[in-house]
Amino acid sequence: MKAAGKHYRTIWLDEKNDTVVSIIDQRFLPHKFIIENITTVSEMISAIADMHVRGAGLIGAAAGYGMYLAALEAEEKEAFNNRLMKAATDLKASRPTAVNLEWAVNKQLSAISNAASIKEKIAATKHTAQLIADEDAEYCRRIGEHGLAIIEQISKNKKGEVVNILTHCNAGWLAFIDYGSATAAIYEAHKRGIKLHVWVDETRPRNQGASLTAWELLQEGVPHTVIADNTGGHLMQHSMVDMVITGADRVTRAGDAANKIGTYLKALAAFDNKIPFYVALPSSTFDWNISDGLKEIKIEERSSDEVKYIQGLCEGELKTILVTPLDSPAVNYGFDVTPSRLITGLITERGICRANEKSILELFPENL
Ligand code: MRU
Repeated sequence: MKAAGKHYRTIWLDEKNDTVVSIIDQRFLPHKFIIENITTVSEMISAIADMHVRGAGLIGAAAGYGMYLAALEAEEKEAFNNRLMKAATDLKASRPTAVNLEWAVNKQLSAISNAASIKEKIAATKHTAQLIADEDAEYCRRIGEHGLAIIEQISKNKKGEVVNILTHCNAGWLAFIDYGSATAAIYEAHKRGIKLHVWVDETRPRNQGASLTAWELLQEGVPHTVIADNTGGHLMQHSMVDMVITGADRVTRAGDAANKIGTYLKALAAFDNKIPFYVALPSSTFDWNISDGLKEIKIEERSSDEVKYIQGLCEGELKTILVTPLDSPAVNYGFDVTPSRLITGLITERGICRANEKSILELFPENL
């Protein structure tokens, strides 16, 4: 997608030096567009943990490239395999909720074990990292095509009037490699001339909606309005929302979806107001090993400073300010779980299914 009119992906290998991985450092958006070059696995681990990169798909791709960097670093040293196993463990521990992270690292471990020499193992990690990124972009593009049908139908029902879509957090291209999951259908519908407008939840504490989703939509010229997180219920009660689309960080085989904290409340409000609530995800976000999201998904708890402090632009400079009494304790659960019964459907690269095991497995029978 575009930044200042130029096409970017969120992560790529430097064209002139393929031992350098470039990322868009999201900590400075929407105010500064900064590209960071990463050359070691420990830098990649920090970039994931400190949210230079974030979002399920991008975290997975970053982990894939992290394993490639680990392989390059291990080349000259003894115990190549041990070093790679350590990198895999450290990467997996860098953020707990997004299942794409573990999925990507495991894909790299199997690529390494299938190669013979160290040279071949390095080549395999490079190839696999690129494959993970390319596949993510292609799957998001397909999610957009499938999701488009839903928006088209709503537009038809409204006789071409503006379709109002609410989204939470950032499940746009910045959270993936390109297109995004929740935003893919929005971009596709906008491109085809369907009149739409997006309500963007600001998404405290890190404000990924206000700073990232709003920025993305602006770059693509999609009409949108940023709202305080507590506004969605009111809008839904007054018929100002036609559908909700969110992303997900981990979805169980029975269709429970972990996503940014606050998603569950939007799903409850949508359910109460009979508004369709869709979750868009590539298949790398399914956790096929678990069924009960509430019991089995470990939710990341982040620093309380993210609640107590807020970052913004002040007189041309990025500043961090305290919004609570200094001594008040705060708690920061990064995600919540929306039970499958509140989800109208899952939009995947293979099509749309209901949020239950039978319907999910009809699309993905290899996980029976
Ligand atoms: O903590 P983050 O920013 O990594 O949160 C993840 C997310 O971006 C959201 O939960 C998103 O809606 C789903 S990930 C595509």
